[in-house]
Parts: sequence; C-alpha cells; structure tokens
Amino acid sequence: MSCGGNCENCKGKEPTPEEKWREDFPVEWAADNYVTRRDFTRFLILTSGATFLGNGYFVAKNALTPRAESGPTVKIATLTELPIGGVKLFRYPTEADPAMLIRLAENRFVAFRQRCTHLSCPVHFNVEKTQLDCPCHNGTFDARTGRVLGGPPPRPLPRIALKLENGEIFAAGLASSDEAEG
Ligand code: FES
Repeated sequence: MSCGGNCENCKGKEPTPEEKWREDFPVEWAADNYVTRRDFTRFLILTSGATFLGNGYFVAKNALTPRAESGPTVKIATLTELPIGGVKLFRYPTEADPAMLIRLAENRFVAFRQRCTHLSCPVHFNVEKTQLDCPCHNGTFDARTGRVLGGPPPRPLPRIALKLENGEIFAAGLASSDEAEG
C-alpha cells in the first residue's frame, strides 16, 4: 500500500504508475466485493436454467391436466329422457346462456353453448350430418367436438363438461374445445 510519498522511505521518490492511479482513485480494495466475469456468467446460466425449468414445468402441467373452466354443477337431464339423436335445451352457466345437450349414441352425450362463435345466432343440431348448423351465415360445427367445419365462425363451439351420476346428467363447467370427446 502506498503511503502517498510521505514516509521516510518514499520521500523524494517518484510514485509508480499504480501508486499514482490509486491516489487518483482511492478505493478501499480490501472491503470491496468483486463480482468476476466468471461469477456473473455462472449467475446468468443458473437464472436462465431456473427460468427454463420453471416454464417447462408449467407447459407440461398444462398439457397433461385436462382443462375445465370453473362453473356450477347443475342437473340438466336424466339418462332415459332423451332418445338417440335427441336434443334438450337448457341454460348454462347462467340463465342468460342458452346451451344444448345432445344424445349422439346409447352411451354418448355432448353439450355445447348454443351461441354461434361468429355473431351469436343459435345453432341447431343436424342429426343426419352429426353437425351443428348456424342458419345466419351457414356456419357449421362438428357435433362430436364443436370444431368448426365450415363458414365464418372463428372458433369452436364452447363445450360443456358433463358428469353422469345415478342415471342423471349434470353440467359441470365449460370444457376446453380440444378436450377429449365425451
Ligand atoms: S352467426 Fe353463425 S355463422 Fe354467422
């Protein structure tokens, strides 16, 4: 450490460039906490890795977990009430939301919101083609999945998750459109 040229040994001597530099920039070196380039790179790699793993976890969780938005569980029909190809209209999740339950086969029921995803006209079940037709602009949806088959609708018809219990059918939340057929 330089004495600043004031001690007996240094008097009269020209300060070295390092001593001169330290006089110009008087930093307390011992108390300084250095972050080396290597430490900083390690920190970046660790934080990037943690972020990547975190994102991967949520992507995998979303892919594996069946998605159903919350909604009340409401009884909408009994198992024997509808013939095959029959339709029952109901309201779900609120009284302002028209919906339809369709019996596609002996043990196969599906339910959808009844508003077309184009401009909200009510859709109707076309039993011959197993599709849902919108009369306003000829939009068509697959009655098994709600997928758009033709016309201007921009999105699938929202499906309603169903639950069967003791011979009764319940609406149990809005299902995502890519969920497995019910
Ligand atoms: S409102 Fe259904 S196709 Fe336009």
